Amino acid sequence: MSEPEPSVPSIPNARDAVRALRPSQIREVANAGFGVADVLPFWFGESDRVTPAFIRDAASAALQAGETFYTHNLGIAPLRSALADYVSELHGATSPDHIAVTSAGVNALMLAAQLVVGAGDRVVAVTPLWPNLVEIPKILGAHVETVSLDYGEHGWQLDVGRLLSALTPDTKMLLVNSPNNPTGWVMTREQQRAVLAHCRRHGIWIVADEVYERLYYPDLDPDPAAEADGAAPGRTAPSFLDLAARDERVICVNSFSKAWLMTGWRLGWIVAPQRLMDDLGKLVEYNTSCAPAFVQHAGIAAVREGERFTLELVRDLKASRDHLVQALSTVPGVDVKAPKGAMYLFFTMEGASRSLELCKAMVREVGLGIAPGSAFGPEGEGFLRWCYACDLARLDAGVERLKRFLAQHGRA
Ligand SMILES: Cc1ncc(COP(=O)(O)O)c(C=O)c1O
Repeated sequence: MSEPEPSVPSIPNARDAVRALRPSQIREVANAGFGVADVLPFWFGESDRVTPAFIRDAASAALQAGETFYTHNLGIAPLRSALADYVSELHGATSPDHIAVTSAGVNALMLAAQLVVGAGDRVVAVTPLWPNLVEIPKILGAHVETVSLDYGEHGWQLDVGRLLSALTPDTKMLLVNSPNNPTGWVMTREQQRAVLAHCRRHGIWIVADEVYERLYYPDLDPDPAAEADGAAPGRTAPSFLDLAARDERVICVNSFSKAWLMTGWRLGWIVAPQRLMDDLGKLVEYNTSCAPAFVQHAGIAAVREGERFTLELVRDLKASRDHLVQALSTVPGVDVKAPKGAMYLFFTMEGASRSLELCKAMVREVGLGIAPGSAFGPEGEGFLRWCYACDLARLDAGVERLKRFLAQHGRA
């Protein structure tokens, strides 16, 4: 007699830590816009412009030359060396041995977290914040505590004393993103000094997400301390790399996405202590193995030849920021302040206390796509995030739609 066939067992759920991850509220708003014929999207963090031609040409040439194979886990030598020169010029001497090429910033954040934290570790993050930074350590089983910036007359500010008190000796890692998505807040040099000294004292790792370092508008509120000791004053926001030795507990995450408009290419890098590099190579192997070879060649063109492009981009972004601040200031009930970095306005508006519902209604009713503040943590509730990396006519069209929405709801 043959045994009866065992029935197919039901499929278990994903791990608890994964099920507990927050889904993206920006996606939720975008989904509400499906079926709306004409949406103006300001919800994602990218420009409406294509990557500059000299970078696309470098990728095409590399493809033609047959750059289609696996590379070294830490990246091809000429890109690591180009990045070392770039980082050295902006932030002081850095060797290629301290650089690892990654598959963009989000993968760099995952690698940094995998290097440093494990199950049960305590992580502190400064918020409001792009959700990936807060969620990634949770995938690894870490506990994330948040310290919120405060919103006041001068926009978003950090109470550094409150951050230091949260950085208890049992904290494993601090996550700080400056210039910040979504608020545009930029950490001052003095705050960096205080945080670095405290983290040194307690052996806390600093993971600094500096993907927006070049999108910095210092004219607004100059930071003389940063000007005094930054390697390239004015060209970049104050960086932990200006202060820290290369072989201490500081890991800087960066990306090609923002400064060279390369969001779809998935290329980034990490600056980290040399002692971590062999282990980082193993983690790259088990995550992605390497960034695509022809994309890495495009990266060389970006860092070696892209400075003029980046400076012009920043000039245009600043003009867009000022234009949108001005236009939004004319909308009744809006409180908006020009931020010092990144490419977003994070502003309040009467009726935005349930920002997710409001953003869904705006996309459905007038085709205006902006991100709800609550997508960036509870501290962001009541705010709206508008990415201004696009031409001025499009910004004007967006503001007109906002006014139309408010008029339809009797608020204009
Ligand atoms: C704060 C922050 N860090 C990292 C990233 C990662 O970008 P990418 O993975 O395209 O490099 C983003 C993207 O919006 C971001 O806002």
